[in-house]
Amino acid sequence: MKIGILGCGNMGATLGKFWAEAGHEVWFASGLPEKAAALALENQCGHGTYPEVVEQCPVLLYSLRGVEPQQLCSGWSGKTVIDCNQPDLPLGFEFKPRETSLAQQLAEAIPLCQVVKAFCLHPVELFHHGADTLRSWGVQTFFCGDSPDDKDKVRLLAQDLGLLPFDCGPLSRAYLLEAQADFWRLFQLHQGQQLVSQFQLVGYPEPVHFTRKPGRY
Ligand SMILES: NC(=O)c1ccc[n+]([C@@H]2O[C@H](COP(=O)([O-])OP(=O)(O)OC[C@H]3O[C@@H](n4cnc5c(N)ncnc54)[C@H](OP(=O)(O)O)[C@@H]3O)[C@@H](O)[C@H]2O)c1
Repeated sequence: MKIGILGCGNMGATLGKFWAEAGHEVWFASGLPEKAAALALENQCGHGTYPEVVEQCPVLLYSLRGVEPQQLCSGWSGKTVIDCNQPDLPLGFEFKPRETSLAQQLAEAIPLCQVVKAFCLHPVELFHHGADTLRSWGVQTFFCGDSPDDKDKVRLLAQDLGLLPFDCGPLSRAYLLEAQADFWRLFQLHQGQQLVSQFQLVGYPEPVHFTRKPGRY
């Protein structure tokens, strides 16, 4: 896949590096051109301005929190846009319920693109264990979006990072993933449990001697 990395901070630099290693054609774009150029050199990738990278890459990682897409360029059409963003950490880790998700806000700003919420759940350090190690650990990742074709691309990109992708349904559920990531951030960043706090969906067998009665769940 031809993937544009928008924003060369921790997440952009890391996912770009590992996707390039997996054989994808990666292009870096940054507010600091020399940063994108250095990453491109290091990882044998391309680099360009935001308008150049958005124009030429069908898949884009949007790792810029709090930056409107129109601030970067115009011409947002027909792209798969992966949103890995989380809201700013609140003072004292006092998280509050939110009306909507960052992913839905992004989708509203670029209605001619398909936004997929993904890769917001894992601390960036996790990816640096490498795909083979993550595969051996069976690390799950959760994503959601409205377009099956675009989600298929993200599923493949997750697998290339060594993750087990789990489709959580439409983009309207992105708030659940963002809340899940906040829960994780509480453990990792506030309570210092580092990488221990990873979520795993586990299917336990049904009990033999109990059948749930119809009820309110
Ligand atoms: N770090 C993690 O473990 C982690 C895990 C999951 C999700 N996330 C989420 O992923 C997103 C990126 O995280 P990160 O750790 O990569 O953050 P980061 O290291 O701070 O990088 C974000 C990049 O966004 C660009 N940027 C930020 N503010 C900007 C502004 N006002 N105008 C223009 N560009 C701006 C900068 O790119 P340039 O320097 O290239 O200009 C910056 O390096 C955040 O929403 C975060 O919550 C992070």
